[in-house]
Amino acid sequence: MQSIRVFAPATVANIVCGFDVLGFAVNAPGDEVILRIIGPPGVRIRAIHGDGGLLPLDPCRNTVSAVVMRYLEQTGDPGCGVEIELFKKMPVGSGLGSSAASTIAGLFAINTMKGNPLGQSQLLAIALEGERIACGQGHADNVAPALLGGFVLIRSYEPLDVIRLHTPAHLVCALVHPQIEIQTRDARRIIKKQIPLSDTVRQMGNVGAMVAGLYQEDDRLISRSMQDVIIEPTRAVLIPGFYRLREIALEQGALGFGISGSGPSIFALAASRGSAQMVVEALRKELFRDGIDSEGYVSSVNREGPSILEGEPASGEP
Ligand code: HSE
Repeated sequence: MQSIRVFAPATVANIVCGFDVLGFAVNAPGDEVILRIIGPPGVRIRAIHGDGGLLPLDPCRNTVSAVVMRYLEQTGDPGCGVEIELFKKMPVGSGLGSSAASTIAGLFAINTMKGNPLGQSQLLAIALEGERIACGQGHADNVAPALLGGFVLIRSYEPLDVIRLHTPAHLVCALVHPQIEIQTRDARRIIKKQIPLSDTVRQMGNVGAMVAGLYQEDDRLISRSMQDVIIEPTRAVLIPGFYRLREIALEQGALGFGISGSGPSIFALAASRGSAQMVVEALRKELFRDGIDSEGYVSSVNREGPSILEGEPASGEP
């Protein structure tokens, strides 16, 4: 096999209560990578489609090529020739784990081509370096669910300890990406560095209850757990009408609503596809009333992480 085409899913980090420690993957949107083994040594980006020219083609600065280079060094094959074509199928800087999806697609592709010498924990460690390149900090709540699929808990960063949680089959995600710009770096900079003990207690209760809610498939417990008293009050100001949007999502039957990762995307979990569809429509309508265009997605939770796609796209779009 000289080339491979891989899909990796978008992800919702934090899931409201679990800043930097909870995340889940969705089946749509997601990114695609075609990776080819070529004769001349070195890793190069052949093309990036769908990013509007935003992402760097320089292999040292692009996260996908940078992690593939790191992978080849780590597996003792630094001279291997690799050509990468990236198909962005989701907005960049959207809070949907865009860089993580590309990174995981690239790593999964090269690992598969090489006969899977590295396991998930080694791939995750390399992917975290990619996140550092993309947003200055190595948080794992996008790369871990993108690689493992399903709901994921990061128990510890040092050492990295990632736990795949039970993923109820009926949960559906409503995602809306408003056309406003928020950089993860900026959204992290504004967070308070000191928090009261009482808030920490509430947050710990919610994270624990969310994990229990997933295992018990208890929608009402999941719903009660989707509260954030630490990060959201600061970040909500970045999304116009945030609290009104939450009211609307809950009125439409969402179990819970919040910021996806560091935003600007917002998401809701719902107990059915029909309910998630209504949430997406209502949220987009409200944003539009405020003069904000948006894109909406309704997706089941992705359970397997990246997957190999058959064949090559004709050209340009897959
Ligand atoms: N947990 C990170 C944050 C995710 O909220 O800053 C960024 O997508």
